[in-house]
Amino acid sequence: MKWVKRIGIGLGVLLVLAFGAITLFFYVLHPKSRDAPSVKAPTTPEAIERGKYLAWHVTGCVLCHSPIDETKPGDEVIESQLFAGRKFPDEAGFPGTVVGPNLTPAAIGNWTDGELMRAIREGIAKDGRALFPMMPYPRFKQLTDEDTLAIIAYLRTVPAQQSALPATELDFPVSMFVRLAPRPVESPPPAWPTDPLARGKILLEVMSCSDCHTPMEKGKQIESKAYAGGTKFSGPIGTVYASNITSDPATGIGAYSDEDLMRAFKEGKGKDGRTLWVMPWRALQGTTDEDLRAVIAALRTLPPISNVVPAPQINAARQSAGLDASP
Ligand code: HEC
Ligand code: HEC
Repeated sequence: MKWVKRIGIGLGVLLVLAFGAITLFFYVLHPKSRDAPSVKAPTTPEAIERGKYLAWHVTGCVLCHSPIDETKPGDEVIESQLFAGRKFPDEAGFPGTVVGPNLTPAAIGNWTDGELMRAIREGIAKDGRALFPMMPYPRFKQLTDEDTLAIIAYLRTVPAQQSALPATELDFPVSMFVRLAPRPVESPPPAWPTDPLARGKILLEVMSCSDCHTPMEKGKQIESKAYAGGTKFSGPIGTVYASNITSDPATGIGAYSDEDLMRAFKEGKGKDGRTLWVMPWRALQGTTDEDLRAVIAALRTLPPISNVVPAPQINAARQSAGLDASP
């Protein structure tokens, strides 16, 4: 059966070619990266203060890179272990082990300022590896050089912490696909816009609101449900679902006043008065009113999407501990 053999050989050759093409595409041509820029973070108290403000109250670095007391509402950072790293729970359905690494001088002391800047905005680790984009570098590319360097200036000042967390290890094929995400940032924005709405739109991005409030399917955000809520979070407190924060009056925040929204951000209370558990409001307590009002202006422009979100189920033990989550 000569023709059978021929087809066999043909298929074999095709397989080898396909394998070669995939290897070339994913492992040679990606991640797209450039050398770390040669920059120097400032050391002035003003820059460190600005970096601290951003890391705590805007960009959320503290929340993903420090252990959190998951028994309390609103993402309370365990300050004695600030920036010692955070292991995300396996139950959360991540494609592998996901850890926000230690960012104290004990871990990143030997990174240059340029390597940190590249990691934050371009998603490339010191050793050239592509970072899992849960690290929001695709959003942080909207940070100015000045703000990025201010964050680095602040990181250099936090106390060193040892930690024995594992490294992030993604399952195949996600480990292959993440290599497509990084891009060099050659023209970062020169400055923040002064117009509150334009500013608020950037804040919505760099504050990662959509990462929790837009439901995902197969590792991708569902565009037609942008900010429409429903993402499920389970932990020691029970199960809650991200709220619909589009301008839909019936199922979103269209009927909320600015004060209702400020109360959610500053006191961690929903419009109906219930305690918000997963919403990181403790961080937002320190965000300036000016920045929060800009966020509200941007929220008001999100197209209305009707989406009813299931009610939270909070463990009875939590409720009796005086942290009542019901209205
Ligand atoms: C939503 C969670 C989240 C936020 C917010 C976040 N990170 Fe990350 N970060 C991660 C995760 C997860 C990784 C690990 C990714 C990997 O190894 O593939 C990471 C990796 C890093 C790395 C690489 C470190 C290493 O050892 O490889 C640096 C540097 C970093 N983040 C800095 C920051 C800074 C600075 C901020 C704030 C401007 C920030 N991150 C905000 C989740 C986050
Ligand atoms: C870590 C995930 C996460 C991030 C980041 C996040 N949220 Fe939330 N948010 C939630 C969840 C979950 C809820 C639902 C209630 C809870 O936490 O128990 C919520 C509730 C809310 C509510 C209360 C609405 C109601 O039901 O009355 C508002 C408003 C809100 N979020 C706006 C925002 C904005 C604006 C941002 C960005 C600045 C943001 N959220 C970032 C997870 C998140």
